[in-house]
Amino acid sequence: MTEAQQITLNEFLAEQARTVDRVLEEWVPDESVEPVSIHRAMRYSLFAGGKRIRPILAIAAARAVSDSPAGVEHVAATLELIHTYSLIHDDLPALDNDDLRRGRPTNHKVFGEAMAILAGDALLTLAFEVLARLNRVSAESKIRMVEELSRASGTVGGMIGGQVHDIEGERKPPTPHLLESIHRAKTGALLRASVRIGAIYAGASEDEIAALSEYGEHVGLAFQIVDDVLDVEQSSESLGKTAGKDEAQQKITFPAVYGLEQSHKMAETERLRAHAALRIFDDRADRLRQIADFIVHRKT
Ligand code: IPE
Ligand code: IPE
Ligand code: MG
Ligand code: MG
Ligand code: MG
Repeated sequence: MTEAQQITLNEFLAEQARTVDRVLEEWVPDESVEPVSIHRAMRYSLFAGGKRIRPILAIAAARAVSDSPAGVEHVAATLELIHTYSLIHDDLPALDNDDLRRGRPTNHKVFGEAMAILAGDALLTLAFEVLARLNRVSAESKIRMVEELSRASGTVGGMIGGQVHDIEGERKPPTPHLLESIHRAKTGALLRASVRIGAIYAGASEDEIAALSEYGEHVGLAFQIVDDVLDVEQSSESLGKTAGKDEAQQKITFPAVYGLEQSHKMAETERLRAHAALRIFDDRADRLRQIADFIVHRKT
């Protein structure tokens, strides 16, 4: 391990989260900027203490490829903008109808549905403005990152497509096939894009991008398996969001299809596959290895 890697994973995660927050602070208009209500709503959900796992994956992937990917925190921040938008909309009455998110009342509970919808739209739009205004990377790389981010957020195999299957799945029998396609799309696609975007920013070779994509697919699937398990095993207080919601809403989840014990085993299998995907990398990818472990062993 290099000197920088000798800090513990928890210290690394906290340090990177602070870096991402600093960049988000810069990009999101201040609450005093008109129209103030939308900026308050955007900031309310964005600065409520998320794990920042997607931007951190982007940063760790960039560092696995290059020693000094200067400015990568800006591209990393775009993943958090998209993610937070997806959470605000996921919680809306028309979707999961949730009251609690990141330990606070959900956006629509505080600002009303209209402002919550618009705050989500605004975070989504801002993500692409940030990408367009990156200044340490070629126009060609920027276009590639725009494509990655839009496809991962989109309807075909992306986040929105997964959300559609998730919502429509509430009235369908939970089959393994439907389950996997929901999870790969609604959550996996953006996690996979996180590592790919970090790698593209850092100038990765196609072989490196392919290996990191494989890693991203496995951690992406593991992430949602664990999210489903935590919904069953943890309290609302520790999660900062409503526990037990999936069963109440008859969602198609890993515990619903396979049971808890098998779900734990499947997350572990994905963790090991994520490690195997990194075999072409040296110890510069150790943070990614540790993050795969963190994703599977986390309790929130
Ligand atoms: C929760 O994501 C929603 C899913 C896509 C599973 P996170 O668990 O990353 O939530 P935050 O960002 O830490 O709040
Ligand atoms: C949400 O999945 C995935 C998104 C695209 C936001 P969930 O509905 O399981 O996320 P939580 O459990 O509410 O965070
Ligand atoms: Mg949902
Ligand atoms: Mg939800
Ligand atoms: Mg969930």
